[in-house]
Amino acid sequence: MTVRVAVNGYGTIGKRVADAVAAQQDMVLVGVSKTRPNYEADRAVAKGYKLFIAGEGKKSEFDAAGIATAGTVPEMLQQADVVVDAAPEKIGRENLKLYDAANIRAIFQGGEKAAIAEASFNALGNYPRSKGKRRVRVVSCNTTGLSRAASVLTSRWGVESWEATIVRRAADPAESGRGPINGIMPTFTLPSHHGPDVQTIFPDLSIATTAVVVPTTLMHVHVNHVRLKTAPPGAQAVVEAFRETPRFHVFSAWEHVDGTPQVMEFAKDRARGGSDMMEGVLWENGIRVDGRELYFFQAIHQESIVVPENVDAIRAMFDLAPDARTSIAITDRALGIGH
Ligand SMILES: NC(=O)c1ccc[n+]([C@@H]2O[C@H](COP(=O)([O-])OP(=O)(O)OC[C@H]3O[C@@H](n4cnc5c(N)ncnc54)[C@H](OP(=O)(O)O)[C@@H]3O)[C@@H](O)[C@H]2O)c1
Repeated sequence: MTVRVAVNGYGTIGKRVADAVAAQQDMVLVGVSKTRPNYEADRAVAKGYKLFIAGEGKKSEFDAAGIATAGTVPEMLQQADVVVDAAPEKIGRENLKLYDAANIRAIFQGGEKAAIAEASFNALGNYPRSKGKRRVRVVSCNTTGLSRAASVLTSRWGVESWEATIVRRAADPAESGRGPINGIMPTFTLPSHHGPDVQTIFPDLSIATTAVVVPTTLMHVHVNHVRLKTAPPGAQAVVEAFRETPRFHVFSAWEHVDGTPQVMEFAKDRARGGSDMMEGVLWENGIRVDGRELYFFQAIHQESIVVPENVDAIRAMFDLAPDARTSIAITDRALGIGH
């Protein structure tokens, strides 16, 4: 079976999801959408993607810019089996009306509330829950990283309690309107929303999170302190557990990847056609075990970590793979993750 996929919202997440879907053999990209012509719309057409007009967008504006359009979003939905909504935060719930009218399955992003979907999704965490579902939400970038790590730790040593401080990038690189800021801004929701969001994937996990925003665009970094139920034999066992799980990249000390600038430089050097780092990033010398106490850092590339998750969510909804590991392997091979 080949699933026909539409991507509604062609920004930071949507354009990456569109490329990722186009790279899968069991999916076909029927089109993407923009509300207005710009360089991204131009690139979409140059890549051969059909471009549909979203929201209040006007065909005359696209025509004036010389950018060919193929119709409106409702017309795009008619040609698809599922739509990936990658519109800005909270617009997804408005778009839901369009999806209901078109009677089409939909995937939402982490900017929408969990209640918008029948299931929240993380491939390593709860893949089978989305089988056959019509509305699925891929959790946010930070929740994706925490959930991936939880899948490693809960299955091996069990988690008694988990505290994470999320050091958040202030804006994505292209969001020049949100900065610059010169400061460290506490998030005064205590604990932060990320812990409950992880519990949409791991309902029984005892996790509390706090967050601060810092003036960088490169990545988020999590500072984790986990009390495990049983003690690992040592830090090296934890390193190996992350290394043998897909969607993690563990840097060794000799690589001198001192922080997020070097991670992004590594991603560019790896030449994946961009600077994306879809794996959760750990440092070998940033993992410490003291009995049942585990300390580790994880860096999250906010612009790309959820991209393979959207692909797996489609596979789960349409039952295209027997299990999570099979879907992850197919997705990662197509996207070059882990190579
Ligand atoms: N960026 C991140 O760090 C990140 C990480 C994980 C999850 N997410 C979530 O992913 C979702 C998308 O975020 P994003 O960062 O990709 O946002 P974004 O970069 O602002 O992209 C969203 C795009 O949607 C388009 N759009 C506006 N109104 C629309 C409508 N009514 N219908 C369809 N498209 C519309 C906008 O483009 P035009 O108006 O120019 O057409 C915009 O480029 C949000 O839920 C967000 O919370 C974001």
